[in-house]
Amino acid sequence: MRDVAPAPTRRRALPRNDPRQYDDLAGEWWRPDGVFAMLHWLAEARAALVPPADRPGALLVDLGCGAGLLAPHLAGRGYRHVGVDLTRSALAQAAAHGVSPVNGDATAVPLADGCADVVAAGELLEHVPDWRRVVAEACRLLRPGGLLVLDTLNDTLLSRIVAVHLGERLPTVPKGIHDPRLFVDDRELVSECARHGVALRVRGVRPEVGGLLGWLLRRARGAAAPAGRAPRIVPTRSAAVLYQGWGVRKG
Ligand SMILES: C[S@@+](CC[C@H](N)C(=O)[O-])C[C@H]1O[C@@H](n2cnc3c(N)ncnc32)[C@H](O)[C@@H]1O
Repeated sequence: MRDVAPAPTRRRALPRNDPRQYDDLAGEWWRPDGVFAMLHWLAEARAALVPPADRPGALLVDLGCGAGLLAPHLAGRGYRHVGVDLTRSALAQAAAHGVSPVNGDATAVPLADGCADVVAAGELLEHVPDWRRVVAEACRLLRPGGLLVLDTLNDTLLSRIVAVHLGERLPTVPKGIHDPRLFVDDRELVSECARHGVALRVRGVRPEVGGLLGWLLRRARGAAAPAGRAPRIVPTRSAAVLYQGWGVRKG
């Protein structure tokens, strides 16, 4: 495994959702107590939706893979893990964790139709001005019978309050990383996936409250405190804030 040591975090003032933020935060990706901590928890929950590969050489395409946080949770499941991302500094770290990197835009992916057994799009759609094009690409990449798994933020007032106004005050969400105008209505997402042959099911998810409070407390006590168990992401009744989606492409 290559040693990729990003520079210490130094942030410029950038517009909301500006992708250059990921370069400024490059040193945060793999810190379990860093500002991307929640992405680690979500990656584990996303991976739980991915069954072991059912054929040798199966391919999982991870759109907007970031630094490859999904990779450790897929270990032993039999996939070749290809990651597509705009941000080179993140891709270099993904490669160091066993992901085959593709520097590109998830709205125009340089991979063949039907090449993927699984397409993952974790915490990506809410960052892309045209999420419908990402959905079209994800479904184009899937082979018939292939699986789409994703998670994103819903386009609701509650989501703006929780994910932006409250979330960005917590140490688990980088300030300014989200532009709430890009949040994705779950019903529109389901109908867009259906248009492209994927029957998407959605369910709301959230960090378990006790685990989150314990984690925040340990974090507030400082680096000397024991890291402890990361909060689990659990299903919740409402999909009004954060939700997962999964569905198979028609044969
Ligand atoms: C919130 S991070 C999620 C990263 C990863 N999926 C995870 O859950 O750890 C969003 C990622 O999407 C990437 N991204 C944003 N817009 C993109 C686009 N149009 N095409 C490819 N990647 C994009 C960013 O560079 C960043 O790495």
